[in-house]
Amino acid sequence: MDKLLIRGGRRLQGEVTISGAKNAALPDLCATLLSPEPVTLANVPQLKDVATTLKLLANMGVQAEAHADDPSTITLDATRVHNPEAPYELVKTMRASILVLGPLLARFGRARVSLPGGCAIGSRPVDQHIKGLQAMGAQITVEHGYIEAVVPGGADGQPGRLKGARITTDMVTVTGTENLMMAATLAEGETILENAAQEPEIVDLANLLIAMGARIEGQGTHRIRIQGVDRLHGLTPAQAHQIIPDRIETGTFLCAVGAAGGEVTLRRTDADQLEAVIEKLREAGVQIEVGEGWIRVASSGRPKAVGFRTKEHPGFPTDMQAQFMALNAIAEGTAAIHETIFENRFMHVNELIRLGAKIEVDGHSAIVTGVPRLSGATVMATDLRASASLVIAGLVAEGETLVDRIYHLDRGYDRMEAKLRAIGADIERVKEGA
Ligand code: EPU
Repeated sequence: MDKLLIRGGRRLQGEVTISGAKNAALPDLCATLLSPEPVTLANVPQLKDVATTLKLLANMGVQAEAHADDPSTITLDATRVHNPEAPYELVKTMRASILVLGPLLARFGRARVSLPGGCAIGSRPVDQHIKGLQAMGAQITVEHGYIEAVVPGGADGQPGRLKGARITTDMVTVTGTENLMMAATLAEGETILENAAQEPEIVDLANLLIAMGARIEGQGTHRIRIQGVDRLHGLTPAQAHQIIPDRIETGTFLCAVGAAGGEVTLRRTDADQLEAVIEKLREAGVQIEVGEGWIRVASSGRPKAVGFRTKEHPGFPTDMQAQFMALNAIAEGTAAIHETIFENRFMHVNELIRLGAKIEVDGHSAIVTGVPRLSGATVMATDLRASASLVIAGLVAEGETLVDRIYHLDRGYDRMEAKLRAIGADIERVKEGA
């Protein structure tokens, strides 16, 4: 297993280009299943989760080709899908695999998708995805760990077509909204999704689907209306859908500079998508200037502690909680952090404590008392954003920090250590066996 070796204490200086958003790329890749014509996506980030999704789609018969002149542009061809199934071996490594369920049912009237297990950040059930698809007419059973879904009603015993429905999910769910929105694009009649997630990634997916011929309104609000159409068409390379910039990667670099100090310009990003994060950083005393497609961040001295409560978009994102915990660990003052989205998203706390942080957890809240210095140690990454918080802490800690199990980081950050090195961080990947 690869590790990251960080020697802390360097100021960060220069420019970073932000990659396409992981959590937009994953549903967008799955959406290509909806069309019998090739679909081209641009600004696809180079991540392990993207590779896993491509493997999952290939296993069904989807052909994918990265463009020779630009590997972040990929054309996917789902003309011949022979196997509408997502096996456990792939789903267990990436919960977002559930995103094939809606598209498969919508286009083929049947799907077999392994039930994702629990994960480091909580139990994360998919009951709302299932409930919504059932409301659209799917018959779903869970057997031997697999979701077996079929739409009855086709001629000669063949699968039928989903029917539009009004669906109110019990809670706001991001991938749940995405699955149901994709399913509804090819359903008969109108679907209304109430209590829909409003994340920018939902809007990105809706824009892709609309470009493919879907009829969708209200994306980015709590009510999304979809009029089903008979088929969706492809997108040629000239019509390629541009995936939005990764707001969490952006936020992670902002926190890194806020903690380590320095002055960095982030390019190909969008400040409008992370207002809550920028507001908190300013409250912490980090200087932030924004413009069309760029954000400049500057920081010197210790930040001020900032408390927050994670919430659905446009609230403070749970995916930035761990990175802000690292920032607070070296801040002046004490901050209370409340995690309201996931039940178990404080796995980084004990690792930060190994670096000298003062943090007390009480249920879903953590009280962080900033200390003037952290000291390098060996720590273990437990999930994607926890890994990012350990890297940030390592950048400020005195001496060497070795972050183990960085396969979590590789799942969701595009060449993070290379980008950090380019702005002056002393960070290197230690290969397994080295
Ligand atoms: N929930 C249910 N039942 C469901 C669906 C969700 O109980 O059927 C619960 C979850 O257990 C959780 C809450 O509802 O407590 C919200 O979960 P949500 O469904 O919104 O999360 P998700 O769609 O599985 C996406 C992102 C996560 C991000 C969350 C919240 C993708 C691929 N993943 O997950 O990203 O934390 O939304 O914003 O979009 C990450 O990138 O590191 C990451 C974990």
